[in-house]
Amino acid sequence: MIHFNKTTLLCGALLLAVPATNVLAGEARSGYDYIKPASRAMQDDDFENPGMLAVEQGRALFNDLQAGASKACADCHGIDGTKFIPASLARYPVYDEEAAEIVTLQEQISRCREANSGSQHLPIDNPDLVALETFVRNRAIGEPVNVQTDGVMVALLKAGEELYRTRYGLIDMACYQCHDIYPGQMIRGQKISQGQANGFPAYRLDTGTITTLNQRIQQCLTSMRAEPFAADSEEIRQLGLYLMSRSNGLKIETPAVRY
Ligand code: HEC
Ligand code: HEC
Repeated sequence: MIHFNKTTLLCGALLLAVPATNVLAGEARSGYDYIKPASRAMQDDDFENPGMLAVEQGRALFNDLQAGASKACADCHGIDGTKFIPASLARYPVYDEEAAEIVTLQEQISRCREANSGSQHLPIDNPDLVALETFVRNRAIGEPVNVQTDGVMVALLKAGEELYRTRYGLIDMACYQCHDIYPGQMIRGQKISQGQANGFPAYRLDTGTITTLNQRIQQCLTSMRAEPFAADSEEIRQLGLYLMSRSNGLKIETPAVRY
């Protein structure tokens, strides 16, 4: 976990002395390009990648009939999810016209779990849902992220971008200042990336846990000494949607290995 205090604020001042060029004017680059070669090697090797543990936990929850459930996910989606269409999984978050709300992949899983397997409701980011999400998202590894950006999404993405450009917390900085202006610069021994979402859920070496995009947003807000948005808030949905849309075209890496 990175901590920002007065010393960091000084580092921040140094950081801000770097001429501001927006690297995103170029193209989207995965966090993979910013991590150390050893971390890349760890991500690329299924036996070394600690995030694969969550994939395996999710696989078991997916294939086996769970206590209290009437059906296993695999009964409808095939053993190991062979009936999923990777390009379809790469579209999340999607917009549900009927419910008039943004639906993340984890929320889709949660809905399906309750409606079709008769299981009890679990709160967002419950470990079982995170494992299922990691497993399902991993079915689409290598598929380019493809979030809808037209129609009903336009206004929602605009709201997400506004949140991304709002200054938060004691350090009074906005997401875009670090992730659009300073990628490649070092802060507290970490190389700042573009804050892309294509690797999530990702394994964080720093916390030693599998981490959803929601949780990563919350961790950045906490390190900015700001009150993190709740997992079920509209803000985190809009911010998550916006981040994922910035990753359009980048390949899904779940489970990525990150700092
Ligand atoms: C009784 C059959 C059934 C069961 C059991 C079931 N699902 Fe589904 N699932 C469906 C159907 C039908 C759809 C497509 C219609 C829809 O979107 O609701 C779907 C859609 C999905 C999608 C969206 C796929 C896409 O391409 O958009 C995901 C992800 C998913 N299910 C995950 C799960 C998981 C994880 C479980 C177990 C916890 C599960 N489902 C259990 C029938 C089932
Ligand atoms: C003071 C600088 C700073 C600010 C401001 C900041 N972050 Fe970060 N963020 C980091 C650092 C450092 C990391 C870890 C290295 C990396 O991947 O960029 C990180 C990582 C991330 C990642 C993971 C990227 C990956 O590939 O694993 C996401 C997503 C992210 N931040 C989103 C946000 C959001 C959303 C905000 C605003 C609410 C925000 N950040 C504000 C410094 C910052």
